[in-house]
Amino acid sequence: MCGIIGIIGKDSVSERILEGLKRLEYRGYDSAGIATLVNGKIDRRRAEGKLVNLAERLKDSPLAGDVGIGHTRWATHGVPTENNAHPHTDGKVAVVHNGIIENFRSLKKELTARGRVFASDTDTEVVVHLVSDFLDQGKTPREAVQETLHRIEGAFSLVIMIAGQHDVIFGARRGTPLAVGLGEGEMYLGSDALALSHLTNRLIYLEEGDWVELRCDGLQVRDEHDNDVIRETKMSAVSGAMTGKGNYNHFMQKEIFEQPAVIGDTLHSFINPATRSIKLPEMPFNIGDASRLTIVACGTSFYAGLVAKHWIERYAGLGVDVDVASEFRYRCPPMPKGGIALFISQSGETADTLAALRYAKSQGQKILSLVNVAESTIARESDVVLQTYAGPEIGVASTKAFTTQLTVLACLAVTIGRENGTLSANDEAGIVGALTVLPKQVAEILHHDEEIRKLAVNIADARDVLYIGRGLGYPIALEGALKLKEISYIHAEGYAAGEMKHGPIALIDPLVPIIVIAPSDDLFEKTVSNMQEAAARGGRVIFLSDAKGLETIGDMASATVEIPAVADFAAPILYTIPVQMLAYHVAVHKGTDVDQPRNLAKSVTVE
Ligand code: F6R
Repeated sequence: MCGIIGIIGKDSVSERILEGLKRLEYRGYDSAGIATLVNGKIDRRRAEGKLVNLAERLKDSPLAGDVGIGHTRWATHGVPTENNAHPHTDGKVAVVHNGIIENFRSLKKELTARGRVFASDTDTEVVVHLVSDFLDQGKTPREAVQETLHRIEGAFSLVIMIAGQHDVIFGARRGTPLAVGLGEGEMYLGSDALALSHLTNRLIYLEEGDWVELRCDGLQVRDEHDNDVIRETKMSAVSGAMTGKGNYNHFMQKEIFEQPAVIGDTLHSFINPATRSIKLPEMPFNIGDASRLTIVACGTSFYAGLVAKHWIERYAGLGVDVDVASEFRYRCPPMPKGGIALFISQSGETADTLAALRYAKSQGQKILSLVNVAESTIARESDVVLQTYAGPEIGVASTKAFTTQLTVLACLAVTIGRENGTLSANDEAGIVGALTVLPKQVAEILHHDEEIRKLAVNIADARDVLYIGRGLGYPIALEGALKLKEISYIHAEGYAAGEMKHGPIALIDPLVPIIVIAPSDDLFEKTVSNMQEAAARGGRVIFLSDAKGLETIGDMASATVEIPAVADFAAPILYTIPVQMLAYHVAVHKGTDVDQPRNLAKSVTVE
């Protein structure tokens, strides 16, 4: 949430900051701004709405300057107007900020009482006035920043630029990510590797509590106790080329179509096709000895956790609790001795998931994480990191990250089963066989694009849509409903098919489409009964099943999509693809902003 960038450069920076903001726009897109230093003075352009508005403004009124900071916003405090857009400045200090300053009210009161005049409704502006106030008291820029960091509470990353100071900018990281980029005679700060991928691939990831003084030719990192520290330089694998849309109309479409490749890449990392066995990274504990597994995540990643629960309980015989991070972290649940906790997060930065991880650690759990961003905070705070090889996911609605999460979780379930003696080598080989054909089967479903687009046109006028499934189909029903609501703004709910009679069936009428996830597995007949109950009440059923399943139901459904026959174990990965495609085409038909749906942002670094 919110993307920030700073450059202390050799030549003009505003175009390069704008380019970085384009790569960060997935983190927030309700307003944006850039400030630079021109002959010692802070100059600034800001615009409400998408980044294109800022780009237009810069065309009309370019910004000079070889030092600058930029921001793309997802509003927390203060409505998304130009006035509340970052950078904030009082003319002496300019600040961009990601996160929340929790004690801003008391600080604002104190600073106002001292005659400081606030121009916005944001929490961020207290940082501007604090630094400025310390400078007025005669502190050096470094001391002013240091004192300010001692006064503010919350979770934040900041970039601070000071009028008259062409040779230094400051960055700070507490709770939300910030990386330093090392250039040739210039330096950068950015929320992630993507933001800086057009500038450098040499990065230093600041650690929790770190702050940095950055000059063109060097830097000094200090930790939370203000001790000088040296942090390792890493080479980022993220390239600028990975962030383009190619020939696709939207990032989401591109990411849906990348799934055969990225599922394949993820499988290749964990599967040995010759021995038909799975090899996860070495773990400093025996996962087969776990007394219980706790999985915590948010949103789509939480639904991946629900699929994993089913797999691990059913195929590996290990009890699993799954929870959404925002609930888990404040419930402070007792955690089992000898337990392992798994945190699933595409970004690896989700604030609630990170807080849940820290709680589990304090309870003596071994910490496993499943992330798409290897250098993320969640990864760095885990005992063992499992990685999805989805590549950067730019569309706000998660697609390829989810199916690659499922791919790794399938491998984890098998590993646990093998290690605790529940699954034989033969069982493992069978599951590996089912997983390795997945890329080909996913590609087959992608060929149904036009057919699914036509179905989408028929449901685009619906006010409500229900998704139902049983067993492994239930989390996919939840995921399908989430995809539809977040990008098409149609109200959609996912239900366990067996729950329909306990309430939701009252919603059914001829205007409510019902998407049924029904692979021919051992629960198929029961799902069909639930589908018939819905059809008997006038529901418009869209039935997703394999050839055998479709033959069984004959013409009972209003519409069908044929999914390749798949082993029960692998079905949730395959059945995710049509629900993603359906949501995508509904959104395109309705003309919504597919990649940047309203009110949302990727990488939720505030709670
Ligand atoms: C939905 C979606 C979100 C994320 C959630 C967690 O399409 O993308 O629900 O899954 O915000 O994000 P991560 O996985 O980055 O922790």
